[in-house]
Amino acid sequence: MCGIVGYLGFQDPKKIIIDGLKKLEYRGYDSAGIAVVDKGQTKRIRAAGKLKNLEEKLINEHFSGHLGIGHTRWATHGAPVEKNAHPHQVGEISLVHNGIIENYLDIKKDLIARGAKITSDTDSELVAHLINEEIQVTKNLLLAVQKTLGKLIGAFSIVVIWEKSPDEIIAFKDGPPLIVGVGEKEFFIVSDVQAALQYTKNFVYLEDREVVHIQNNEIKYFSALGAPLKKQIVQVDWNTEQVEKMGFKHFMLKEIYEQPRAVAAAIRPHLNTETHQVEMQTLGFVKSNAEIFKSIDRIMFVACGTSYYAAMVGKYLIEQAGNLPVEIDVASEFRYRKPIVPKNTLLITISQSGETADTLAAIRLAKEKGALTLSITNVQKSSIDREAHGHLYMNSGVEVGVASTKAFTSTIALLNVLALQIAKDRGVLTADQEKNYVTQLLAVPSQLEVVLAYDKYFSEAAKKLQEFKGFLYLGRGVSYPIALEGALKLKELAYMHAEGYAAGEMKHGPLALIDSNMAIVVVAPTDELIEKTISNLQEAKARGGKIISIGTGENAALQSMSEYYLSIPASSWMAHPLLSVVPLQLMSYHLADSLGYDVDQPRNLAKSVTVE
Ligand code: F6R
Repeated sequence: MCGIVGYLGFQDPKKIIIDGLKKLEYRGYDSAGIAVVDKGQTKRIRAAGKLKNLEEKLINEHFSGHLGIGHTRWATHGAPVEKNAHPHQVGEISLVHNGIIENYLDIKKDLIARGAKITSDTDSELVAHLINEEIQVTKNLLLAVQKTLGKLIGAFSIVVIWEKSPDEIIAFKDGPPLIVGVGEKEFFIVSDVQAALQYTKNFVYLEDREVVHIQNNEIKYFSALGAPLKKQIVQVDWNTEQVEKMGFKHFMLKEIYEQPRAVAAAIRPHLNTETHQVEMQTLGFVKSNAEIFKSIDRIMFVACGTSYYAAMVGKYLIEQAGNLPVEIDVASEFRYRKPIVPKNTLLITISQSGETADTLAAIRLAKEKGALTLSITNVQKSSIDREAHGHLYMNSGVEVGVASTKAFTSTIALLNVLALQIAKDRGVLTADQEKNYVTQLLAVPSQLEVVLAYDKYFSEAAKKLQEFKGFLYLGRGVSYPIALEGALKLKELAYMHAEGYAAGEMKHGPLALIDSNMAIVVVAPTDELIEKTISNLQEAKARGGKIISIGTGENAALQSMSEYYLSIPASSWMAHPLLSVVPLQLMSYHLADSLGYDVDQPRNLAKSVTVE
């Protein structure tokens, strides 16, 4: 979603804010703007489109102040045009906002009745009006903000500056993340730590309806009602290198190539590399992992998008290996369908960002219903991570490309570990099976290197895909969610119509779609279902469908019926998804790139979806 950077310090705010916004641009990118308090006046410059449009406008602009705010916008209210870009300025007040003010219609009506002149179509400008009204009376920014906060309903994070007070900045939130970076005599208020990581490693995470007030190098935190709060500084150990492209054309490509390392970083803390046993680190529950896994009756996974497909893989792994019932749900459905969460349920959320609004709402609802909760996140201390009882980390490093890749494989690797640990603790895994699965899992990082070495074949296959009008992605068992994920990657990157199907469902409708314009991408590593999948492909081929298949090693049967055959190394069925998804990621990447699309920032999408 939108990116926010606020700065108060001794350096040039233009540089700090633009550098920060560049790191956040991947979150939302239809317009951008900056406002700096310079010699008692607000200088505000905004531009529609990419951040580079704003940079061009700023080339000859020099600011002497040291207080400013900046924003990259992903439109919610109002078209992505300059008048709707942030910062919004009303009188002496300027602010940037991420999220939605739900009661904006009531606020707008009241403001108009009081004679306010509204210049944009946004809900954000209305908040600037409210604070500006208050400041005329109170002449105190903190009081004006506190009074305004009480009038807002919705999900928002907001940073405010006042041109009469060049050493003061205030921020507050209820929903989307807002984090304070604490440097030496300088402060950063950002929607994501990446925006300030090159200046400080010390961060304070604001909780909902908290206010941070920084003035004359003093930082204070308050509750919405004005009670002073003590907050803890958290050290973030990501380095800035992890957020650079490191010579790759796109972040997405770099992140695909980082998968061997990312998967290793996810699983190593939980596996004994000498004995090849699973030894899952503590999840941070009051009880031990084993006590929890023995006592639960079911697992419910809740997540969105690619994370939901990872959850789907988790269902196959845990039910099949651990003999424990698993339910899965997309968070936007779960949170509104009055879900039944029986006693002894472990509810697991999966979220790379840890900030997805629907997933956050789902975990809160599950807690209200008495569930024990575990979060699998990449971003530590994110809202979902902080909400959960137990925690499991992907350890993938920063994922910048909007389309999730390494977070997906890291999660599936962790779900392998989780399924094996559950199976072991519940007594349904023999020592031999354990050793065998762990050995195969530990081999995955180097097998991923092998798959990546075949990139030129995936890029050739991608050229072939351009000819087709539609795509069916098929798979069975653990490969079914991978088919869904492959179709999603094609849709979001190459803007082509693709559907994922369970291969056995073909006869129940989709077969009618098949002709020579339809490509069938099948995920078919060798497992106990391979023969059935091959029969389904015969049916499709007989009707003119063109097949692109992913199989294990040299699979002659698959090879003979496919236009393109992409090979992955042999592995356990549990680890198949980790290998088979990579050709799908790379085919979509190359196809989108060859069509000239913006791979890292696909149209209409944002990385961290902090509004529902
Ligand atoms: C697709 C993609 C999205 C995310 C989804 C959930 O490539 O990245 O579908 O998976 O928005 O995001 P997180 O995992 O941050 O909750």
